Amino acid sequence: MRVLLVCLGNICRSPTAEVVLRTEIEKTGLGNCVDIVSCGTAGYHVGEPPDSRSQAAAKVREYDMSTLRGRQVQDSDFEYFDFILAMDESNLMDLRRRCPKQYQAKLELFLTYANNYQEKEVPDPYYGGQQGFSRVLDLVEDASVGLVEVIKARL
Ligand code: 4NP
Repeated sequence: MRVLLVCLGNICRSPTAEVVLRTEIEKTGLGNCVDIVSCGTAGYHVGEPPDSRSQAAAKVREYDMSTLRGRQVQDSDFEYFDFILAMDESNLMDLRRRCPKQYQAKLELFLTYANNYQEKEVPDPYYGGQQGFSRVLDLVEDASVGLVEVIKARL
């Protein structure tokens, strides 16, 4: 099973989702069955480590994002991944424009899998304060738990 998590810059939301989802999957013992990758729809931060504010917020909850590097979505991703999950509607629209017709059903909002929060989008924390980064973690942790249940049922 292959999961791609997508935001705009791949330095805040989707790398946070990558480490949180990987941690949740590893808790179930299915770490070897699920390949988790994140990327951005934009290429501004390709090769860069995650934003230091995202790393700091993640560290408080014992996630290590330091080895991740920015990556931009590629045309081959649409065939390769089984789940392609966008952090907000704007990124979902970008993906919809690029994605071949036969793979459109793989595209969804990540928060579709959240059970405790009603939000549909993970708000972009880039231009705000530190509080926005812990909010990202709250939402992403909830959706990761929900997604792991769905993945377990499909494996
Ligand atoms: P992300 O946040 O999409 O969650 O990684 C952003 C990162 C960078 C920019 C915008 C949002 N930027 O404009 O550079």
